[in-house]
Amino acid sequence: MPANDLETERIRRIYDRRSASARSNGRDAGCEWLCSKADGETLEIGIGRGRTLPFYPRNVHLTGIELSGVAVDLAERRARELGLDVTLRQGDAAALPYPDEHFDTVVFCYALCSIPDDRTAVAEAVRVLRPGGRILLIEHVRSPNRLVRTIERLIEPIALRRMGDHLLREPLDHVLAEGLEVETLERSWFGMVERLVALKPDSEELAEAV
Ligand SMILES: C[S@@+](CC[C@H](N)C(=O)[O-])C[C@H]1O[C@@H](n2cnc3c(N)ncnc32)[C@H](O)[C@@H]1O
Repeated sequence: MPANDLETERIRRIYDRRSASARSNGRDAGCEWLCSKADGETLEIGIGRGRTLPFYPRNVHLTGIELSGVAVDLAERRARELGLDVTLRQGDAAALPYPDEHFDTVVFCYALCSIPDDRTAVAEAVRVLRPGGRILLIEHVRSPNRLVRTIERLIEPIALRRMGDHLLREPLDHVLAEGLEVETLERSWFGMVERLVALKPDSEELAEAV
């Protein structure tokens, strides 16, 4: 099996286990802010147990994809409890089972930290996004503060082994490499948490940018 497939399988097992044992769907102001900006046909990648489901505006039609089958079952149960009509399925962010330019909004809510191939996941998100659509992203990233970054560097091997969690990633680099235009970029928690809204320009502008 290729190395990325092996790592994806390891992450799936970790999140099957974590999803089954998690006690609550903790609130997160950043996720609420992010999801409130979704519009139209929306895809959330790595939707987990459905923590974000109540945060979306009612006029959004939500599709969620998630690697862990246990998490998908729990998210489906949560959607039923909330009376929401959403489409959820198990799948891999690195090979999205959707046609090109299908969604108005694509959301990553603390998912890129655990997706083995984050570069491909962003490229796939851009592929399924229509021109004029937006990527909404919140993630813990590499801090620009030297002391904080050193701590992240020390903790990362443990986080990776136990939770498959990368602490030093820079998703903004991938978003820019795909030719998207950044509309909002905010950092908090000593620069460890990034909020990003980026627009996919129309096809001609995109071809010039990449
Ligand atoms: C930290 S959790 C966040 C879950 C949810 N977005 C939330 O905020 O509660 C990361 C999620 O990404 C999922 N994930 C990891 N790799 C993935 C992949 N290759 N494709 C789809 N989902 C993936 C994990 O299974 C996990 O549910």
